[in-house]
Formats: sequence, C-alpha cells, structure tokens
Amino acid sequence: MTLLFEPITIRNVTFKNRLIVSPMCQYSSIDGFANEWHLVHLGSRAVGGAGLVFTEATAVTPEGRISPDDLGIWKNEHIPFLKKIAGFIQQHGAIAGIQLAHAGRKASTPSPWKGRKPLTGEAGGWQTLAPSALPYKDYPAPREMSPGDIQQLIKDFAGAAQRAVEAGFQVFEIHAAHGYLINEFLSPLSNHRTDQYGGTLDNRWRLLLEIVHAIRNVIGEAAPLFVRISCTEWVEGGWDLSDSVQLATILKENQVDVIDCSSGGNSPQQKIDVGPLYQVPFSEKIKKETGILTGAVGMITNALQCENILRAQKADFIIMARQLLREPYFPLHAAKELGADVPWPVQYERAKIK
Ligand SMILES: Cc1cc2nc3c(=O)[nH]c(=O)nc-3n(C[C@H](O)[C@H](O)[C@H](O)COP(=O)(O)O)c2cc1C
Repeated sequence: MTLLFEPITIRNVTFKNRLIVSPMCQYSSIDGFANEWHLVHLGSRAVGGAGLVFTEATAVTPEGRISPDDLGIWKNEHIPFLKKIAGFIQQHGAIAGIQLAHAGRKASTPSPWKGRKPLTGEAGGWQTLAPSALPYKDYPAPREMSPGDIQQLIKDFAGAAQRAVEAGFQVFEIHAAHGYLINEFLSPLSNHRTDQYGGTLDNRWRLLLEIVHAIRNVIGEAAPLFVRISCTEWVEGGWDLSDSVQLATILKENQVDVIDCSSGGNSPQQKIDVGPLYQVPFSEKIKKETGILTGAVGMITNALQCENILRAQKADFIIMARQLLREPYFPLHAAKELGADVPWPVQYERAKIK
C-alpha cells in the first residue's frame, strides 16, 4: 500500500489520499465572482483524482484582492456559483477547500496576464492596507491599519468563512504567507507597529490567532483548518524557521490542524535557494518539532518524490501546484505508478490503464 493513497481523517473529514491541489490564482473573475472557468479548472482536478482541491486565494474584501480579476467571497451573491463548484468537486470524490486571503500592501495591482486587459477594465490602484505604511518594492505606500481596521478585518475573515460554509466547502485555509496581509503582520521587516499587534512575536501573531479563533467559531469543531505560512522569508533578520516552529506550536494549541509550509514573498531582498523539494525541510522540521500535521509544497513533480516525502515522515500531505496544471490527471497516473488501485471516473473507466 502506498502512503500517498492511504486515506487520512482530520476531525470529521476523510481525505481519500494525501494529494492536494495548491491554491492558484486564476485572475479570471469579475467583481469577485466565480464562473465557468473556475468550475472547469477546479472540477478537472477533482476528476483527476486529487484528495483535496483548494480554490485560489479568495479575497475576504474587495480591497484584499491582488488584482481586480481575483476571486472573492465578500458578499452573499458570491455563494451560489461557489456552491456549484464545491458540489461538483465533492460529487467526484474530492474534498472542496477554500483559501481565504487578504493581500494587504501587495493588493491593488493590475492583472499579471501579459497582453490582456483586466477583465473588469480596472487597473487596480485602490488604497491598500498594511500593519505599517511601508511599501513593498515600488508599490504605492499602504495605509497603516487603525485598531478599528483590524477589528473589521477579523470580522471580514469570519464573514467570508461563514459564506464558505454556506457554499459547502469542508476545509478552510487561512493565507498567512507570501507577503500578504497576515504575513506582513508576522514579519518584523513589514510590521513596525508599537501597539499590541507589533513588536514581540506574541504581538505579531496576535492578528493571525484572532482570525483563527473567529474562523473556528464559524466553521465549528468538525471542519479542518489549515494555515499557509512562509516558513522563512529568506532575509537575514527577517522571519525565519525557528519563528515558524514557535508559531506552529501556538497554532496547534489553538485548534489549527495543518500547517501548509511555503516560504518567501515578503521582501525583495529575499535570496531563495530554489530547486526540487526545496521547501520540504521546512515541513519536516515543523512536523518533527511540534507534532502538528504538515503539508509540503514547492517543486514536487513526480510520484516517487511524493511517496518518499511521506515515508520519511517529512509531511502528511503533498501540496502540488504547477505539475497539476500541466497534468490534471497526475493523481490517477501516480496511483498506477505506485501500485494503488484507485477508481477512475466511471465516464473514463474504459481508458483506465491496467
Ligand atoms: C498560477 C499560480 C497561482 C498561484 N496562486 C496562489 C494562491 O492563490 N495562493 C497561494 O497560497 N499560492 C499561490 N501560488 C503558489 C502555489 O500554490 C505553490 O505554492 C507554488 O507554485 C509552488 O508549488 P509548485 O512548485 O508545485 O508549483 C500560485 C502559483 C501559481 C503557479
């Protein structure tokens, strides 16, 4: 039996395997609405056999979008199409997950698609928010969030989670990585606040903990809660792996189930050693030192790598992005390669590789 295809249960949710579709922005929404693109894109990966399919970063407020074309869940009108998508994913045996996000000082950029105008015709350009008025690169300066803004943000995350529950999502991930708003609070490089949300580690992760509590309150005890973090920001004097180990310990005590172990994105000074499996050691260390479940992500591209990571107990989940864009049926092929007999969609049975 392969570990990659061994089911795992967290709270009341059983995943049929350990392969997760990583959140991936599609820049294909107007006014935050999901549409046929998202249904086909996410649906194909469920049909392809992944155990859990995450939506892209889904903005909890309009200002929290990276670009005007981002997916959102800040109003009730967003629920029906998302419900259709979550339902389709589940009909095909996968778990439907949603990543809840606010882009902070990295919001409000034009759509990154070369040669294509933003779907909305907007170019971004709204006032961004951040812990401190420190711009990222040459981006416009954000406005420092007031205590009132922070309380509102926590309510916005809770409201978004409530809508996600109504849309039928079963797993919830807080995006606290890649230099977006929550990551900006965690890092001493982007958080220069002198109130209870800045300074010591305890203060810098206060916002994340308050969001964790607000979301848990809405999703209930039965639903798994993931947090994606940047385990290091790859800058001398910045957030590092030992900070992440401490944070993971606290998150575990606060009913977070899984740490999704990514890195970088908060500083243009970052020096990243990119290569196959380059972020796996972060997952390994956090798992070993805290005992929390972890997901490894980043340049994992073949079945044997996945299996070896799990066997060496370096992670509990494999989270995959670009390989699943290249090959939506990767999980079905990986099962064959690893000798697991998994069902194919009935519509495709006649093509099953025996
Ligand atoms: C097209 C694209 C969009 C992405 N959007 C998101 C996102 O919405 N949220 C997020 O946390 N990471 C995002 N990422 C990062 C991926 O989830 C993943 O962490 C990264 O690509 C490394 O994994 P890979 O080597 O398997 O691609 C994106 C990556 C790609 C390629």
